[in-house]
Order: sequence, then C-alpha cells, then structure tokens
Amino acid sequence: MKFYIACDHAGYNIKENVIQIVKNLGYEIINLGTDSNERVDYPDFAHKLSKAVLKDEGSYGILICGTGIGMSLAANKHKGIRAALCHDAYTAQMARAHNDANVLCFGERVNGLGVIESMLKAWCDTSFEGGRHANRVKKIEI
Ligand code: RB5
Repeated sequence: MKFYIACDHAGYNIKENVIQIVKNLGYEIINLGTDSNERVDYPDFAHKLSKAVLKDEGSYGILICGTGIGMSLAANKHKGIRAALCHDAYTAQMARAHNDANVLCFGERVNGLGVIESMLKAWCDTSFEGGRHANRVKKIEI
C-alpha cells in the first residue's frame, strides 16, 4: 500500500507523526507539503495530492487541515477521488468498506494522534466490500 500525504499550515504540526505512523504500519508514504507553519491555502495542497493519487493507480492519499473539511471539499472536485472526512476508526473502516474511499481526511484541531493511528490502522486493514456498494459508488460520479 502506498500513500501520499499533504497538509496546510493547520495540519503541519502533526504531519511528521502521521508519516511515522504510516511507516510503522509498514507502508510507503510520500510527502507533498506544506513543510512549515507559514499560512497556505488548503485547496492548493488538496489538488496537488489528488492529482498524484489519480496518476498512481492503487495509491491512497492523506489530507490534513484544521478540521479536514476544506481538504475533503477540494479533493472531491476531482473525478475519481473519493475523499472521506473521518473522525474515528469506525468512519475510516466504513469509508474503505462501503465507499471505496481513496483519500482519508482529518483535522489536526479535531483528532489526537491516538485516534489518528486507530483510523489509519482501520483504513489499512479494510478492503472495499464491492457488491451492492460498488453500484452505489459508481452512482457518485455525475
Ligand atoms: C485554516 O485556518 C483552516 O481554515 C483550514 O485548515 C481548514 O480547517 C479548512 O477547512
């Protein structure tokens, strides 16, 4: 499993910890910035990451901002990106199992690292169930 990760200034403080969590789980992760606390615009990073995930078939994305909301809104503008704003292990598990999400979004101002680790574990341990869910996921694209 391969991940790309990006954040804005409001997600920067935890990004290195998140990278470490993913590495400890045994997966590859590529950092697409931002790399300081200097203010940036979250859509720029959501778009950069979405393009990288779409180009690299089978890869996943992690987007962090203050709440995860702006990142998910921007990423979901890309056809083929299914960005899920998750808050706990259950929502992360369901995002993979039922929605075949390929980008995980969360907020540095919302979740602590313990919860984030449980979300990442759930995400990595869960496959898309397909079946009736595949038809619904297909209907998302307009
Ligand atoms: C930045 O202050 C904040 O608005 C941004 O990180 C994000 O939470 C937006 O959805």
